[in-house]
Amino acid sequence: MAKVVAPWPSFGRPLLAVESSCDETSAAVVIGTNVRSNVVSSQADLHRQWGGVVPEAAARRHVEAILPVVDLALDEAGLALEDIEGFAVTNRPGLVGALSVGVCAVKALALATGKPFVGIHHLEGHLLSPFAEGAVVPFPHVALIVSGGHTELVEVAQPGRYRVVGHTIDDAAGEAFDKTARMLGLGYPGGAAIQHLAEGGDPKRYALPKGLKGETLNFSFAGLKTAVMRAVDSGAEPADLAASLQETVVAVLTERTMAAADQCGVDAVTVVGGVSANRRLREMMQREADRRGWRFAAARLDLCTDNAAMIGLAGDFRLGMGLSDTFDLDVVPAADLEAE
Ligand code: KG4
Ligand code: ZN
Repeated sequence: MAKVVAPWPSFGRPLLAVESSCDETSAAVVIGTNVRSNVVSSQADLHRQWGGVVPEAAARRHVEAILPVVDLALDEAGLALEDIEGFAVTNRPGLVGALSVGVCAVKALALATGKPFVGIHHLEGHLLSPFAEGAVVPFPHVALIVSGGHTELVEVAQPGRYRVVGHTIDDAAGEAFDKTARMLGLGYPGGAAIQHLAEGGDPKRYALPKGLKGETLNFSFAGLKTAVMRAVDSGAEPADLAASLQETVVAVLTERTMAAADQCGVDAVTVVGGVSANRRLREMMQREADRRGWRFAAARLDLCTDNAAMIGLAGDFRLGMGLSDTFDLDVVPAADLEAE
């Protein structure tokens, strides 16, 4: 068995993790930070017809997918349920019905096996995702969380100690990508499609608003959305518009992440969440970090969008600390990351 390396007091034994907070049903087996399996069943095809996630439909699809996904995660890890020593599950924040499916499944598994389980904050999973497979990321660092639902700058003093230093005041960065994709008829979710289209486009063709001005660590993407809508209405060239949008969003995310690190006096930054799969964003972050002699880390591509492996890493940390939950663990639709 590979040596377990983790920057926290690792649980270090096989752990089964489940994620079902939004539109991905996922189960993973991790040992320390080694990802033994990570099965993700996406509902994107289901929600595409509505152009966004419909909570009722999501919950129902999770119910159908959860057991096959758990079985597959065990299979791919080459383990049986009896080999699992602990469980982790996203119980906050997210869609109540969707979260409940994962939490009920893990409670049932924990009850059947008599093994401990722990509820995880979804964003803590994203924050720890760059640590997979023993990757070294220094503490303290500043993390940019960018996904379909979140745009936050977080000072990570150590695992479990988080301080939000900046956030969006309206749309999330992923929404800017998704809404533009929708206006251009690229389907849902549209981040990857925008990136693809942008490759053949001119990023300087359209001047788009960057949102909040001055010395702030907050973001605003609502004005950008309106500007894109106007450009589409006046017949903008799609590839150039996609490239201009991507460049604008990446520039503001990178600038503010560097400013946050400056303010916090740290010399390491990470980017996590679905939008961190964006090639241009990773490239700009790396370049700006290199220019300052700072460390930059991001999760590997398959761990950027929602997945259970990252929940497993957070579970390894929490169970390793001796923290576990009881059967009255509840789901929480809106939860403060700083209360961890
Ligand atoms: O973390 P995630 O899977 O779900 C949430 O917690 O929201 O993030 C999904 C978001 C979507 O908005 C999607 O369009 C975006 O991540 N995304 C991307 C890329 N891949 C996924 N955005 C830009 N470029 C990409 N390559
Ligand atoms: Zn997420």
